Amino acid sequence: MSHSNASALEHPTYDYDVVRKFTIATVIWGIVGMAVGVLIAAYLTWPELNMVLGNAMNAFIGDSIGVDFRQFFHFGRLRPLHTNAVIFAFGGSALMATSFYVVQRTSQVRLAFAPLVPFVFWGWQLVILSAVITLPMGWTSSKEYAELEWPIDILITFVWVAYIAVFVGTIRRRKTKHIYVGNWFYLAFMIVIAILHLVNNAEIPVTIGKSYSAYAGTVDAMVQWWYGHNAVGFLLTAGFLGMMYYFVPKQAERPIYSYRLSIVHFWALISVYMWAGGHHLHYSTLPDWAQNAGMVMSLILLAPSWGGMINGMMTLSGAWHKLRTDPILRFLVVSLSFYGMSTFEGPMMSIKTVNALSHNTDWTIGHVHSGALGWVAMITIGSLYHMIPRLWGREAMWSTKLINVHFWLATVGTVFYIVAMWVNGIMQGLMWRAVSADGTLAYSFVQAVDRSFFGYALRTLGGAIFLVGMGLMAYNFWRTVKEPVTSEASANAAA
Ligand code: HEM
Ligand code: HEM
Repeated sequence: MSHSNASALEHPTYDYDVVRKFTIATVIWGIVGMAVGVLIAAYLTWPELNMVLGNAMNAFIGDSIGVDFRQFFHFGRLRPLHTNAVIFAFGGSALMATSFYVVQRTSQVRLAFAPLVPFVFWGWQLVILSAVITLPMGWTSSKEYAELEWPIDILITFVWVAYIAVFVGTIRRRKTKHIYVGNWFYLAFMIVIAILHLVNNAEIPVTIGKSYSAYAGTVDAMVQWWYGHNAVGFLLTAGFLGMMYYFVPKQAERPIYSYRLSIVHFWALISVYMWAGGHHLHYSTLPDWAQNAGMVMSLILLAPSWGGMINGMMTLSGAWHKLRTDPILRFLVVSLSFYGMSTFEGPMMSIKTVNALSHNTDWTIGHVHSGALGWVAMITIGSLYHMIPRLWGREAMWSTKLINVHFWLATVGTVFYIVAMWVNGIMQGLMWRAVSADGTLAYSFVQAVDRSFFGYALRTLGGAIFLVGMGLMAYNFWRTVKEPVTSEASANAAA
């Protein structure tokens, strides 16, 4: 970038540099994480693919240096790479980008503790890079979503403390009277993730790449799913609700439907989420009362979740016509519908009798991705399209048509993915429990795998479609930043 361009981008009031960096990181890690998702989806469809990359690398270099590359590329090593890349690299960078943008604009001041800011960005990228290297190598604590080993956990702790310090410091020096509700959600996400990280990763190091959990047996499982569920509740939900509370009203050019509802929503959501993790351990050695408490709290959770969704949706009242011409708003609104859908499905799946059917089947995977693709990815994409022109001093994105194409690819891709998983999941659940007249199982496990083939192929296709959409976003982003504003863009801005 030339010097004159760089100074033109210097915002007089706000520190946009770090926001721009995190925005770029979000798109890159989104593409990487989803590409790995498509790859492992293909592995599950055509298992022989598990060895293709490893064999190719062996022929290229592995055989001559005596390293078997097949170990680095199979499903078991790449699955945690996918989950970490999409949740912490894509989702984490999106939350850091938007929280730094929102906190400055709603507080009307620059970020506090300026020297810490680059550390938050580069430290987080170092965490991600360490994950990209160590997970395929098989370094894992074996705790889902907390696989990273202890040296990386320590780095995460430092970065996170710096992140909170910058965010809270900025709120403290705000020029506005109120702390906008979006910031409440962001702050809850930051504080709870800090607590979860410290408690669940209490571990005893053995070597640089191996540690053992400080907890044992059922207690270990309970702590893990208290962590796992609240990572969903506070990272994948509360953080993105912070995003929702800023970008939906902004893009719709309407104030939030009800400020009072947003406060009730906030306190209800954060106080109920904490107790629901037991639904991950139904019919396990966790005491029955704790399982039941998890179930009841999950059912109650429907109310605050839908309160939030309704607050977002109703913000559009009087502005629904904008959906016809504004694909960015469409992303935001459809993400809220998926949020509503997955937070209806979740409480249903937490009912023990329903869970007896859904647990361990692809239904869970469908639920996860209706939240992950439909809600998390779509609200992020919509928010990024809103921010990018403002961050780079452009009137609008280079092409609104491409945003529209992206919207349809993302929607169709998500629907293919989740419908395939629902059908597979319910079929698997029913096949596993079916018994013949003589009391023996009617189907072997492998028969259920065999029948799942079509669903797996459809899921891979859906994922690939979603990924192509992300590629279009990267292209549109690049053109927006690189090119002078086109006549289409000015027309868009005027529209
Ligand atoms: C192109 C898009 C994507 C594809 C094709 C994809 C594919 C997959 C596949 C094949 C699995 C393993 C399923 C299994 O073990 O049976 C998986 C797991 C998972 N993915 Fe994705 N994924 C995508 C996007 C995302 C995104 C954006 C997120 C989060 C923001 C996400 C979060 C997860 C999580 C949390 C799991 C673990 C689920 C569990 O253990 O129950 N995925 N994904
Ligand atoms: C009211 C809200 C929700 C409730 C009560 C809920 C409930 C559940 C239940 C019962 C399971 C299945 C547990 C099992 O059988 O193992 C589950 C799994 C999961 N849910 Fe939700 N869910 C909710 C919302 C969401 C949202 C919005 C997302 C994503 C953004 C999400 C992500 C996940 C993930 C990643 C898993 C898989 C965990 C694993 O086994 O690895 N959930 N949820």
